[in-house]
Amino acid sequence: MKTTGGSDAAKRRAGERAAERAEDGFVVGLGTGSTTAYAIDALGRAIDDGLEIRGIPTSFQSRQTALEASVPLTTLEEVDGVDLAIDGADQVADDSTADAYGALIKGGGGAHTREKLVDAAADEFVVVADPSKLAPTLERSVPVEVIPDAYSVVSERVRELGGDPTLRAAECKDGPVVTDNGNLLLDCAFGSIDDPEGVASTLARVPGVLEHGLFVDLADITYVGTDDGVETRE
Ligand code: 5RP
Repeated sequence: MKTTGGSDAAKRRAGERAAERAEDGFVVGLGTGSTTAYAIDALGRAIDDGLEIRGIPTSFQSRQTALEASVPLTTLEEVDGVDLAIDGADQVADDSTADAYGALIKGGGGAHTREKLVDAAADEFVVVADPSKLAPTLERSVPVEVIPDAYSVVSERVRELGGDPTLRAAECKDGPVVTDNGNLLLDCAFGSIDDPEGVASTLARVPGVLEHGLFVDLADITYVGTDDGVETRE
């Protein structure tokens, strides 16, 4: 699997610690990305040892990882609720004195629409990260999923809002990345985002935007894997 930033050992520690929160009978939201994949693998091993859970994947990738790990799958329609969601992040606001503490940028894998749906539905949303994801202020580009007809209009609106949008291009072929939902992605640079809640609500109101990758006030716990352990942010 392609990995981004951070050491694999740190990602593994964070993912495995998060998987320990799953209890018998839990419905678990399965996020996307290389860090969450370690949690899904750990859930698969726990299932081999007798844990009874069902997982809700948030992308084609997490579904494949779950199938390989023999995690039984279900859907949001089939369950009464989601007990736990485990998901990675591209950036985590880590200044505990700032209002934005704990806000996330997600969508590096283009899966943030389904991730937000499942993560927000969960009783407990656990973020798994490594130290490379921590920043005093969010500053990475914000992925925005747009319906195909809307990308040029949304790009113009993002520019009016002070952002710099780039249509995400596929690495392996000419043309844009197409999401699991059949849409396009605009990576929108806003510089330093001091008010993620304000940017989030502004983006959410732009016609043609399906979902953006700012996750504000959603995370309950963040596990940060390090070279020799796991730090907890609550
Ligand atoms: C996918 C995501 C991922 O959680 C995010 O990109 C982190 O991935 P990784 O754990 O591989 O660094 O938001 O849409």
